[in-house]
Amino acid sequence: MKLAVNADRVLSRRNMMLYGMFIEHFHRQVYGGIYDPDSPFADEDGLRTDVMDALRHIGIPVLRWPGGCFVSSYDWKKGVGPVRTPVFDKAWRVEESNAFGTDEYVRMCRKLGCEPYICTNAGTGTAQEMSDWVEYCNLKSEGEYARQRIQNGWREPHAVKYWSIGNENYGGWEIGAKTANEWSRLVTEAAKMMLRADPSIELSVAALPDIDWNVELIKRAGGQLSWISIHEYWDPIHTTNALANYEQCMAYTADLGNQIRQFKGLLTAFGLEKRIKIAFDEWNLRGWYHPNSHTTRPGLTPEEYLLPRDKNDLNESYTMADAVFTACFLNELLRNSDIVGMANYAPCVNTRGLIYTHGGGIVRRATYHVFDLFVNRMGDEVLDAYADSSELWRVKGKDGETDVSLLDIVATRDSASGAVCVSIVNKHASEGRTVEIELQKAVRSAELYSLAGDSCEAYNDVGVNRVEIHTDTVRAPMVNRCEVTVGPHSVNVVRISL
Ligand code: AHR
Repeated sequence: MKLAVNADRVLSRRNMMLYGMFIEHFHRQVYGGIYDPDSPFADEDGLRTDVMDALRHIGIPVLRWPGGCFVSSYDWKKGVGPVRTPVFDKAWRVEESNAFGTDEYVRMCRKLGCEPYICTNAGTGTAQEMSDWVEYCNLKSEGEYARQRIQNGWREPHAVKYWSIGNENYGGWEIGAKTANEWSRLVTEAAKMMLRADPSIELSVAALPDIDWNVELIKRAGGQLSWISIHEYWDPIHTTNALANYEQCMAYTADLGNQIRQFKGLLTAFGLEKRIKIAFDEWNLRGWYHPNSHTTRPGLTPEEYLLPRDKNDLNESYTMADAVFTACFLNELLRNSDIVGMANYAPCVNTRGLIYTHGGGIVRRATYHVFDLFVNRMGDEVLDAYADSSELWRVKGKDGETDVSLLDIVATRDSASGAVCVSIVNKHASEGRTVEIELQKAVRSAELYSLAGDSCEAYNDVGVNRVEIHTDTVRAPMVNRCEVTVGPHSVNVVRISL
């Protein structure tokens, strides 16, 4: 295939917040994950330094917290101050110690060098509670909550800029789920109070691509919103854990931009596409396995809803299928970076995370290296590029056969160095492909960074690193072009210096 890249025609600029993360009070994500005071790796604040270093390496720009479903009955006031009262978390049906709350979270974000992004309780929570939280974090010293923060040892405001009203409040599984009417009313009032507490914050709101859900919401509250929050987990295994195989995972790449397109249309219809951006603030190839959590069926023992969660941590489930899918979606975000300003991989540590923690250290799963490639090797400006052919691959998905494009390619330019950086994802399970990249400029040198593992089932585990980034010099680049051969099931970035 030939790819003509116009290195002078910038289509859009990516926001680094596309590489954001999410962490929820679920299973071992917070407790026993990033926050583990008993670990030999813990720093003075109980944060695991190995996890923090790994997240810094992939430049984590923003971290959404504390949920997820967890937040829809979360009382933030019980998670601050010297007395932390344990509560029973009705989303995940476990005790929440409240040891890790707002102050610990903001401190962690500051140590990571990332923006905090707080998701509020819009399930059982009220507009008042949401704006009290903004006061606690952002007011200098006025009022009960800012004073409380100061008493708790935080003289300076936490200055949290990004706030989301609610999480998936449209879904019957969510505590305090709302109808479209109830939702638009609560959001309008909550936004009003939160913005009066601090008009400089940016508000996002839980939504799904449904006309009825959005019309009243955007009509009433659109003027107060900066973001629309959407989620997607393509492989719905919450109750079955029937993980799609490699080819089935590739089938999910057939229409990755579906929700983004729908929201872009909706926002455009309201004339808001330049003012409201999409925060794709939970996404992952697969959902999380937690059967029997969101049910009131009597007779279930805790083992029936607690133990299955351990399966999310099995490293063998995070193969090149996850890596290739993740790279395709990161490409899709780049292609849509005019409308998507933030995305949060869900979650960052344990469960389906990029990083797995154990007593002796961490495992960087295949997906971790995909973020490494996109954050550290791709450019910040999306370029115009044209492929002379689009080869399709027929794959068997869970819902039948479908055609997917075999290669998924996005060209960018690194504005600092002028290098052209092209991500080439080859989905084919067993065949490589050659891509000839044509530029209208002389090529000085080129390097290829590749992630493929030794099979499409390859994964990393404790002490085993079968999936790692390999670097190659692209030999003898030709005057205005360079040719790269990419392996099967591979994620690649070619960096071309002009
Ligand atoms: O299954 C995990 C959950 O997925 C998150 O808590 C929720 O936001 C999403 O539905």
